[in-house]
Amino acid sequence: MAIAYNKRTCDCGTLRAGDIGKEVILAGWVNNYRDHGDNLVFIDLRDRGGLTQCRFNVDTDPAATKVARTLRKEDCIAVRGEVITRGENVNPKLPTGEIEVSVHEVDVLSKSQTPPFEVAEHVEANEDLRLKYRFLDLRRPPMQRAMITRHRTLQAFRNFYYNEGFLEIETPILTKSTPEGARDYLVPSRVFPGSFYALPQSPQIFKQLLMMSGLDRYMQIARCFRDEDLRADRQPEFTQVDLEMAFVDVDNVLDVVERSLAYVWKEVLGVEVPVPFRRMSYDEAMRDYGSDKPDLRYGMKLIDVSEVARKSDFKVFHEALGGGGVVKAICLAGGGDMTRKESDGLTAEIQGVGAGGLPLCKVADVGGKPGLQTGIAKFFNEQTAAELIEAVGATVGDMVFFAAGTFGNVCKHLNWLRTTLAERRKLIPKDKWEFLWIVDMPAFEWSEEEKRWVFMHHPFTMPHDEDLSFLESDPGRVRAKCYDSVLNGVELGSGSIRIHRQDVQSRIFRMLGLSDEQAMGKFGHLMTALQYGPPPHGGLALGLDRMAMLLAGAPSIRDVTAFPKTQKAYCPLTDCPSEVDGKQLRELGIDLDAATKAKRTAKES
Ligand code: AMO
Repeated sequence: MAIAYNKRTCDCGTLRAGDIGKEVILAGWVNNYRDHGDNLVFIDLRDRGGLTQCRFNVDTDPAATKVARTLRKEDCIAVRGEVITRGENVNPKLPTGEIEVSVHEVDVLSKSQTPPFEVAEHVEANEDLRLKYRFLDLRRPPMQRAMITRHRTLQAFRNFYYNEGFLEIETPILTKSTPEGARDYLVPSRVFPGSFYALPQSPQIFKQLLMMSGLDRYMQIARCFRDEDLRADRQPEFTQVDLEMAFVDVDNVLDVVERSLAYVWKEVLGVEVPVPFRRMSYDEAMRDYGSDKPDLRYGMKLIDVSEVARKSDFKVFHEALGGGGVVKAICLAGGGDMTRKESDGLTAEIQGVGAGGLPLCKVADVGGKPGLQTGIAKFFNEQTAAELIEAVGATVGDMVFFAAGTFGNVCKHLNWLRTTLAERRKLIPKDKWEFLWIVDMPAFEWSEEEKRWVFMHHPFTMPHDEDLSFLESDPGRVRAKCYDSVLNGVELGSGSIRIHRQDVQSRIFRMLGLSDEQAMGKFGHLMTALQYGPPPHGGLALGLDRMAMLLAGAPSIRDVTAFPKTQKAYCPLTDCPSEVDGKQLRELGIDLDAATKAKRTAKES
């Protein structure tokens, strides 16, 4: 008679010494198989709960043992047997390590081919192979833990926001293409040939419309889609914990969001996160860290040494300063032990990031006093060397690195160096959570490429009241009521207080180069709603994938996404995106251009 696998008594991670003597039914996958050759076969049975060792004895259960000898890794089986003690062979590394199940009966529910990689804690296989066989990769314990962490994160956010009176409201996935920063994914309409829906980059306008609809306090676990260049913390489709509130200002939003983050960290990791979080202006972050998402777990601030650099004889510094640029430095404590090979390697790498080179010098004992040695030391006299050492706060044994050029480039290069040095030199403390708000961002930045002002956050962000008068005359001076949530150098989320006045919204669109007509064409629904008594409102969206990544201690959001895409937005599991047949295209009124058709034919032949 077959084992009633639908009547499992528990999962494979549950049994303990107190269960000895019980009759149990377990089901799962063969994790390991050990045939002792004599009368014993051992199988580690695995499911979501963990591992249980199953023992087959040919003397007492010959039929079951005969079947066990045919089992291989990843076969799916059910067993019935008795929980017995492992006696002296306790495995302290396993929660079920005190017991084993003496199997009387085994059913093979399905056989597995030899897996293309080991379903184990650590995997050697490359990521493409793991993604192609994602159903096997997800069986691995770290992936199971990551999925559970993501689930718990999601539940904790929902609990928190429900308890704060937020309503979960879904917004459309087939929506209108609006410029939000990234490229849209488009979906052709069959009913309106030549017209397209866009997948939402975020529910931004809809959540604003919900506030205008009187549905104060909205939240949604929202899927978003962006056709942009991918990185370790970006996927073409991802999830936001999205929220919006009416009758609020910046402090109200920051308060509820930081409490939600503290709640989630407590629920998922048991970690107490103090609130309120530290706030830092955008200008301060750029000045001290060269980044709008600084990692505050370690020091190495960027220090402006332009004044002392001016007194040096180093041509590179003079050229940068003469061109209106800056010279900044960071001091690596104890970095004087860096080998030439190491610093040459860093120089080559920072050149790859766009820097001309990596000027540096060591702080050493020179005639009984701290002085400069090696690198660009020769360009400083005793006096300027002493001034430099004081400016960067260095002591004997440290290394000082420099960057010279435009403010933007110096930020970019020293931010790269700061984070790289911290990682390589293992300066990042474990289990430290440095939550931070970045506030007072500029509303607009000048795009050299497009030769026009572009918005920093999105065009619905309210400028500071006192900056409104500079909107047309000096856009670079306008600060936005905008905030980013940053954790350990990762941007978790961003949001803003929105424009609820139609005249201000029109001025912003005009400033961004949209005529009133164009603005109506693209944002008619918003512009109309703004004429019907919109409340002041604001909100924020947190990236769920990034939070799950940090909570799970994973290196990439792909590791906390069940079925992610590769860096090229390709899914090796389903082999998508894929071509569709001519009939489907004709129905949509779509004809491929000659070059694309030629590519398709070349692929087919
Ligand atoms: P923003 O575009 O800054 O703001 O997105 C908010 C947060 O979403 C996450 N995120 C991503 N995560 C994974 N892959 C991506 N490609 C990706 N892009 C963004 C980040 C980011 O901080 N509507 C506004 C929010 C608002 O104003 O309320 C918005 O979407 O964690």
